[in-house]
Amino acid sequence: MKSARICLVGAGRAGMVHAFNFRYRVAEAELVAIVDANEAMAQERAGELDVPFVFDSIESALSQADFDAVCIATPTFTHASIVIAAARAGKHVLCEKPMALTLDEADAMIAAARQADVVLQIGFMRRFDPAFRAAKEQIEAGVIGDPIVIRTLTRGPGLPPRWACDPTTSIGMLAEVNSHDFDTIRWLAGSEFARVYAEAATFKAPELEAEFPGFYDTAIVTTRLVNGTLGIIDGCCPVGYGYDARAEVLGTGGVLFIGELREHALVRCTREDGVVTKQFSAWAKRFEAGYLAEDEHFINCIRTGEPPLVSGEDGRQALEGVLAATRSIQTGAPVSLPFAESAGDVM
Ligand SMILES: NC(=O)c1ccc[n+]([C@@H]2O[C@H](COP(=O)([O-])OP(=O)(O)OC[C@H]3O[C@@H](n4cnc5c(N)ncnc54)[C@H](O)[C@@H]3O)[C@@H](O)[C@H]2O)c1
Repeated sequence: MKSARICLVGAGRAGMVHAFNFRYRVAEAELVAIVDANEAMAQERAGELDVPFVFDSIESALSQADFDAVCIATPTFTHASIVIAAARAGKHVLCEKPMALTLDEADAMIAAARQADVVLQIGFMRRFDPAFRAAKEQIEAGVIGDPIVIRTLTRGPGLPPRWACDPTTSIGMLAEVNSHDFDTIRWLAGSEFARVYAEAATFKAPELEAEFPGFYDTAIVTTRLVNGTLGIIDGCCPVGYGYDARAEVLGTGGVLFIGELREHALVRCTREDGVVTKQFSAWAKRFEAGYLAEDEHFINCIRTGEPPLVSGEDGRQALEGVLAATRSIQTGAPVSLPFAESAGDVM
C-alpha cells in the first residue's frame, strides 16, 4: 500500500501537532490537504508545512481532493457533522476528544463509520504515553493486584480558546480538559462508570462566568465503576504554574504513580533560589511521544485493518461520564449511569 494520504481538518492548536507529525514524523503518511474555516490561516499553515491543497470546508475538500483519511481537530460542536461527512465519503477518521456534544451525536458518528467500514479513532493520546501504557500493562499483569482507587488530574496553564470556555459549544471544562481523565479511569479500571458525583466552582476566571452561563474553571469528580473501583478526578484551568497531568492507581497489592510535573530530570539547587526544576509548560510537550504514537497507530490501523486502541465506543463512554458529571454539577446530586439524555439538556 502507498502512504496514507491525510487531510487535516482544523489547523489550530491540536491540529498543528498532528499536522507536524503526519508531515514529518509518521512513516507511510502524507499530509496532502489542510481544511480550516479560517482559510487565510489554513493557507499560511499549509505554506509553512509545504502542503499542496487548502480548503475552507470539509465538503470542498471531499469534492475536490483525493485522500484516504481525515484528522479532525476542530471545536467539539463541529465533530459530529465532519466525522459523518468524512465517513460517508469512505475516509478513515481520527477525531480529537471530546468526541461530541451529545450521546446521540456519538452514536451517529459510530454508525456512520461502521456502515462505511472505516477506522474511527478518538484522540485520547494519553493511552499512547509510555508511562500510562506501562501502568496499564502492569495492572493487567497483576503487579499491584486489583485497582481499588484511581486518582487522576489534569490542570492546564492557561484558558483554552473561547469556544472551549462556552458550555454550549464545548460542554465545559470536564469535557475540554478532563475528558482524558474520564477515559483514563475507565481504561485503567477495565470497567464502566456506574455513578458519578461532581462539584465545580469558579476561582480563576470569574469574568467568564458572567459571559458564559454554566462556566466553571475548577471541578472535582468522584465515581464508582461497575466493577467496584472508585475514581477521583481533579481539574483546574488556568492554573498558571504549568501543564499538569498525573494519575495514581491504588491496588490491593501496591500503588502506581503515573506522570510527573517536571519536564526533565535536571534539578538545580542554589542558595539564592533553593531547589528549582523545570515544569511542563504545555500539553503538546508533555504528551509529545503520545501524540506521535497515536498518529502512528492510526496509520497502522488504516494499513492493517486492525481496530483502533481508542474506538468510537471509547469516546462515547468517556462522553457519557462527562455528561453525567456535568448534570451532577447542575443538580447537586449523584448521577447513575447509563446517562439519560432525554432527562434534559446539560448545556
Ligand atoms: N488531545 C489533546 O490533548 C487536545 C489538546 C487540545 C485540543 N484538543 C481538542 O482538539 C480540538 C480543537 O481544539 P484546539 O484547541 O486546537 O482549537 P482551536 O480553536 O485552536 O482550533 C480549532 C480550529 O478549527 C477551525 N474550525 C472551526 N470550525 C471549523 C469547521 N467547521 N471546519 C473546519 N475548521 C474549523 C478554527 O478556525 C480553528 O483554526 C478540540 O476537540 C479539542 O478538545 C485536544
